[in-house]
Amino acid sequence: MTKTIAWGLTGAGHFLERSFTVFRNLKFENEHIRINTFLSSAAEEVIRMYGLEDELDSISNGDYLEEIFLETKQGKSWPKTGRFLLDKYDALVISPATSNSVSKIAYGTADSLVSNAVSQAVKGGVRVFVVPVDIAGVVISELPFAIDREMCQKCVDCPPRKECPYNAIAEQIELLKCTGCGICKDLCSYGAIKGGPVKLRVRDVDTRNVEIMKDLEGITVLEEPEDIIDAIENL
Ligand SMILES: Cc1cc2nc3c(=O)[nH]c(=O)nc-3n(C[C@H](O)[C@H](O)[C@H](O)COP(=O)(O)O)c2cc1C
Repeated sequence: MTKTIAWGLTGAGHFLERSFTVFRNLKFENEHIRINTFLSSAAEEVIRMYGLEDELDSISNGDYLEEIFLETKQGKSWPKTGRFLLDKYDALVISPATSNSVSKIAYGTADSLVSNAVSQAVKGGVRVFVVPVDIAGVVISELPFAIDREMCQKCVDCPPRKECPYNAIAEQIELLKCTGCGICKDLCSYGAIKGGPVKLRVRDVDTRNVEIMKDLEGITVLEEPEDIIDAIENL
Protein backbone atom coordinates (compact mmCIF):
# COMPACT_ATOMS: atom_id res chain seq x y z
CA MET A 1 0.00 0.00 0.00
CA THR A 2 1.33 3.45 -0.89
CA LYS A 3 2.35 5.67 2.01
CA THR A 4 2.20 9.42 1.58
CA ILE A 5 4.56 11.38 3.77
CA ALA A 6 4.52 15.13 4.21
CA TRP A 7 8.08 16.41 4.79
CA GLY A 8 8.39 19.75 6.55
CA LEU A 9 11.77 21.41 6.12
CA THR A 10 12.91 24.39 8.17
CA GLY A 11 16.00 26.59 7.77
CA ALA A 12 18.62 24.56 9.65
CA GLY A 13 22.05 23.61 8.33
CA HIS A 14 22.41 21.05 11.11
CA PHE A 15 20.92 17.62 10.20
CA LEU A 16 20.13 18.98 6.72
CA GLU A 17 22.29 16.62 4.64
CA ARG A 18 21.31 13.70 6.87
CA SER A 19 17.62 14.51 6.47
CA PHE A 20 18.10 14.56 2.70
CA THR A 21 19.86 11.19 2.80
CA VAL A 22 16.96 9.68 4.74
CA PHE A 23 14.28 11.08 2.41
CA ARG A 24 16.30 10.17 -0.69
CA ASN A 25 16.50 6.59 0.55
CA LEU A 26 12.82 6.50 1.49
CA LYS A 27 11.87 7.72 -1.96
CA PHE A 28 14.22 5.68 -4.13
CA GLU A 29 14.35 2.44 -2.17
CA ASN A 30 10.58 2.11 -1.81
CA GLU A 31 8.23 2.04 -4.77
CA HIS A 32 5.31 2.84 -2.54
CA ILE A 33 6.31 6.06 -0.84
CA ARG A 34 5.26 9.52 -1.99
CA ILE A 35 6.86 12.61 -0.47
CA ASN A 36 5.13 15.98 -0.47
CA THR A 37 7.45 18.72 0.78
CA PHE A 38 6.56 21.84 2.79
CA LEU A 39 9.39 24.40 2.88
CA SER A 40 9.71 27.32 5.29
CA SER A 41 11.04 30.57 3.75
CA ALA A 42 14.33 30.05 5.58
CA ALA A 43 14.55 26.45 4.38
CA GLU A 44 14.21 27.62 0.78
CA GLU A 45 17.27 29.85 1.26
CA VAL A 46 19.33 27.40 3.27
CA ILE A 47 18.74 24.51 0.87
CA ARG A 48 20.11 26.63 -1.96
CA MET A 49 23.19 27.57 0.11
CA TYR A 50 23.98 23.91 0.67
CA GLY A 51 23.43 23.03 -3.02
CA LEU A 52 20.41 20.77 -2.41
CA GLU A 53 17.75 22.34 -4.64
CA ASP A 54 18.00 19.85 -7.51
CA GLU A 55 17.99 16.95 -5.12
CA LEU A 56 14.74 18.16 -3.60
CA ASP A 57 13.17 18.34 -7.07
CA SER A 58 13.97 14.67 -7.55
CA ILE A 59 12.52 13.64 -4.16
CA SER A 60 9.29 15.59 -4.65
CA ASN A 61 8.80 15.52 -8.41
CA GLY A 62 5.72 17.74 -8.66
CA ASP A 63 3.04 15.09 -9.22
CA TYR A 64 -0.07 15.19 -7.04
CA LEU A 65 0.94 14.60 -3.39
CA GLU A 66 4.58 14.86 -4.44
CA GLU A 67 4.62 18.61 -4.80
CA ILE A 68 6.95 21.14 -3.17
CA PHE A 69 4.98 23.81 -1.32
CA LEU A 70 6.98 26.98 -0.65
CA GLU A 71 6.10 29.27 2.22
CA THR A 72 7.16 32.21 0.03
CA LYS A 73 4.44 31.34 -2.49
CA GLN A 74 1.66 30.98 0.09
CA GLY A 75 -0.57 33.58 1.66
CA LYS A 76 -1.01 33.77 5.39
CA SER A 77 -3.95 31.38 5.79
CA TRP A 78 -1.93 28.38 4.56
CA PRO A 79 -4.59 26.79 2.33
CA LYS A 80 -2.29 23.90 1.38
CA THR A 81 -2.22 22.59 4.94
CA GLY A 82 -5.97 21.96 4.71
CA ARG A 83 -4.96 18.72 3.02
CA PHE A 84 -4.05 17.32 6.43
CA LEU A 85 -7.77 17.21 7.21
CA LEU A 86 -8.58 15.19 4.09
CA ASP A 87 -7.03 11.85 5.00
CA LYS A 88 -4.28 12.23 2.37
CA TYR A 89 -1.17 11.74 4.51
CA ASP A 90 0.13 8.89 6.64
CA ALA A 91 2.54 11.12 8.55
CA LEU A 92 4.10 14.56 8.74
CA VAL A 93 7.84 14.61 9.46
CA ILE A 94 9.62 17.86 10.34
CA SER A 95 13.36 17.36 9.78
CA PRO A 96 15.44 19.30 10.49
CA ALA A 97 13.39 21.44 12.90
CA THR A 98 15.03 24.77 13.82
CA SER A 99 14.80 26.05 17.38
CA ASN A 100 12.53 28.77 15.98
CA SER A 101 10.00 26.29 14.57
CA VAL A 102 10.27 24.06 17.65
CA SER A 103 9.29 26.99 19.87
CA LYS A 104 6.28 27.68 17.68
CA ILE A 105 5.18 24.07 17.72
CA ALA A 106 5.74 23.77 21.49
CA TYR A 107 3.43 26.71 22.16
CA GLY A 108 0.80 25.86 19.55
CA THR A 109 1.62 28.80 17.29
CA ALA A 110 0.53 28.15 13.71
CA ASP A 111 1.59 31.25 11.79
CA SER A 112 4.18 29.73 9.46
CA LEU A 113 3.80 27.03 6.82
CA VAL A 114 5.54 24.36 8.87
CA SER A 115 3.99 25.20 12.28
CA ASN A 116 0.59 25.42 10.62
CA ALA A 117 1.13 22.05 8.96
CA VAL A 118 1.80 20.55 12.41
CA SER A 119 -1.33 22.13 13.82
CA GLN A 120 -3.53 20.89 10.97
CA ALA A 121 -1.94 17.44 11.00
CA VAL A 122 -2.76 16.97 14.70
CA LYS A 123 -6.30 18.21 14.11
CA GLY A 124 -6.63 15.81 11.19
CA GLY A 125 -5.33 12.80 13.13
CA VAL A 126 -2.09 12.57 11.11
CA ARG A 127 0.93 11.39 13.12
CA VAL A 128 3.65 14.04 13.47
CA PHE A 129 7.37 13.33 13.95
CA VAL A 130 9.80 16.15 14.72
CA VAL A 131 13.61 16.00 14.60
CA PRO A 132 14.85 19.08 16.51
CA VAL A 133 18.36 20.30 15.78
CA ASP A 134 18.89 21.71 19.27
CA ILE A 135 18.05 19.14 21.93
CA ALA A 136 20.72 19.60 24.62
CA GLY A 137 24.44 20.09 25.21
CA VAL A 138 26.76 20.94 22.35
CA VAL A 139 25.91 20.57 18.66
CA ILE A 140 28.35 20.32 15.79
CA SER A 141 26.82 21.96 12.74
CA GLU A 142 28.05 22.45 9.15
CA LEU A 143 28.55 25.96 7.77
CA PRO A 144 27.97 26.80 4.10
CA PHE A 145 30.87 28.32 2.12
CA ALA A 146 32.44 31.53 3.44
CA ILE A 147 35.65 33.51 2.92
CA ASP A 148 38.13 33.39 5.80
CA ARG A 149 39.19 37.03 5.77
CA GLU A 150 42.41 36.28 7.61
CA MET A 151 43.49 33.90 4.87
CA CYS A 152 42.20 35.95 1.95
CA GLN A 153 45.07 37.65 0.07
CA LYS A 154 42.70 40.17 -1.58
CA CYS A 155 44.00 39.28 -5.06
CA VAL A 156 43.01 41.94 -7.57
CA ASP A 157 42.23 39.21 -10.06
CA CYS A 158 40.35 36.94 -7.64
CA PRO A 159 39.45 33.77 -9.64
CA PRO A 160 36.55 32.72 -7.36
CA ARG A 161 34.97 36.16 -7.76
CA LYS A 162 35.47 36.13 -11.55
CA GLU A 163 34.25 32.59 -12.09
CA CYS A 164 31.32 32.37 -9.67
CA PRO A 165 28.38 31.51 -11.96
CA TYR A 166 25.97 33.27 -9.61
CA ASN A 167 27.96 36.46 -9.09
CA ALA A 168 27.75 35.78 -5.38
CA ILE A 169 31.24 36.84 -4.33
CA ALA A 170 32.17 40.36 -3.30
CA GLU A 171 34.15 40.99 -0.10
CA GLN A 172 32.23 38.09 1.36
CA ILE A 173 30.08 35.37 -0.17
CA GLU A 174 26.53 36.61 -0.48
CA LEU A 175 24.79 33.54 0.81
CA LEU A 176 21.41 34.50 -0.60
CA LYS A 177 22.93 34.23 -4.11
CA CYS A 178 25.15 31.21 -3.37
CA THR A 179 24.00 27.76 -4.51
CA GLY A 180 26.69 25.83 -2.66
CA CYS A 181 28.25 24.56 -5.92
CA GLY A 182 31.76 24.84 -4.40
CA ILE A 183 33.54 26.01 -7.60
CA CYS A 184 35.04 28.93 -5.67
CA LYS A 185 36.63 26.69 -3.05
CA ASP A 186 38.80 24.96 -5.65
CA LEU A 187 39.69 28.20 -7.44
CA CYS A 188 41.19 29.93 -4.41
CA SER A 189 44.92 29.11 -4.29
CA TYR A 190 45.12 30.21 -0.65
CA GLY A 191 42.41 27.91 0.71
CA ALA A 192 40.54 30.93 2.00
CA ILE A 193 37.10 29.62 1.04
CA LYS A 194 35.62 26.90 3.13
CA GLY A 195 32.51 25.54 4.77
CA GLY A 196 32.85 23.12 7.58
CA PRO A 197 32.04 22.24 11.14
CA VAL A 198 31.12 24.76 13.80
CA LYS A 199 30.41 24.03 17.47
CA LEU A 200 27.50 25.64 19.28
CA ARG A 201 25.89 25.39 22.69
CA VAL A 202 22.19 24.58 22.90
CA ARG A 203 20.27 27.19 24.89
CA ASP A 204 18.24 26.12 27.94
CA VAL A 205 15.11 27.54 26.38
CA ASP A 206 15.52 25.29 23.34
CA THR A 207 15.96 22.20 25.51
CA ARG A 208 12.83 23.19 27.45
CA ASN A 209 10.82 23.65 24.27
CA VAL A 210 11.78 20.18 23.07
CA GLU A 211 10.58 18.75 26.42
CA ILE A 212 7.27 20.61 26.07
CA MET A 213 6.87 19.26 22.55
CA LYS A 214 7.41 15.68 23.76
CA ASP A 215 4.25 15.95 25.90
CA LEU A 216 2.02 17.28 23.13
CA GLU A 217 -0.72 15.10 21.69
CA GLY A 218 0.00 13.56 18.29
CA ILE A 219 3.70 14.57 18.24
CA THR A 220 6.68 12.25 18.59
CA VAL A 221 10.17 13.72 18.98
CA LEU A 222 12.96 11.80 17.24
CA GLU A 223 16.60 12.29 18.21
CA GLU A 224 18.15 12.10 14.76
CA PRO A 225 17.10 11.94 11.12
CA GLU A 226 17.92 8.22 10.78
CA ASP A 227 15.15 7.46 13.33
CA ILE A 228 12.64 8.52 10.69
CA ILE A 229 13.09 5.25 8.79
CA ASP A 230 11.76 3.08 11.64
CA ALA A 231 9.03 5.57 12.42
CA ILE A 232 7.73 5.37 8.83
CA GLU A 233 8.09 1.59 8.64
CA ASN A 234 6.06 1.19 11.84
CA LEU A 235 3.18 3.42 10.78
C1 LIG B 1 23.41 28.73 6.72
C2 LIG B 1 22.41 28.78 7.84
C3 LIG B 1 22.29 27.71 8.70
C4 LIG B 1 21.37 27.75 9.76
N1 LIG B 1 21.31 26.69 10.59
C5 LIG B 1 20.47 26.71 11.65
C6 LIG B 1 20.41 25.60 12.54
O1 LIG B 1 21.15 24.60 12.39
N2 LIG B 1 19.52 25.64 13.57
C7 LIG B 1 18.68 26.71 13.75
O2 LIG B 1 17.87 26.68 14.70
N3 LIG B 1 18.71 27.79 12.92
C8 LIG B 1 19.58 27.81 11.88
N4 LIG B 1 19.62 28.88 11.01
C9 LIG B 1 18.77 30.06 11.28
C10 LIG B 1 17.33 29.86 10.77
O3 LIG B 1 17.31 29.68 9.37
C11 LIG B 1 16.46 31.07 11.18
O4 LIG B 1 16.33 31.11 12.58
C12 LIG B 1 15.09 31.06 10.54
O5 LIG B 1 14.38 32.21 10.96
C13 LIG B 1 14.28 29.83 10.93
O6 LIG B 1 13.00 29.89 10.33
P1 LIG B 1 12.09 28.58 10.18
O7 LIG B 1 12.03 27.94 11.53
O8 LIG B 1 10.77 29.12 9.75
O9 LIG B 1 12.70 27.73 9.13
C14 LIG B 1 20.54 28.88 9.96
C15 LIG B 1 20.67 29.96 9.07
C16 LIG B 1 21.61 29.92 8.03
C17 LIG B 1 21.74 31.12 7.13
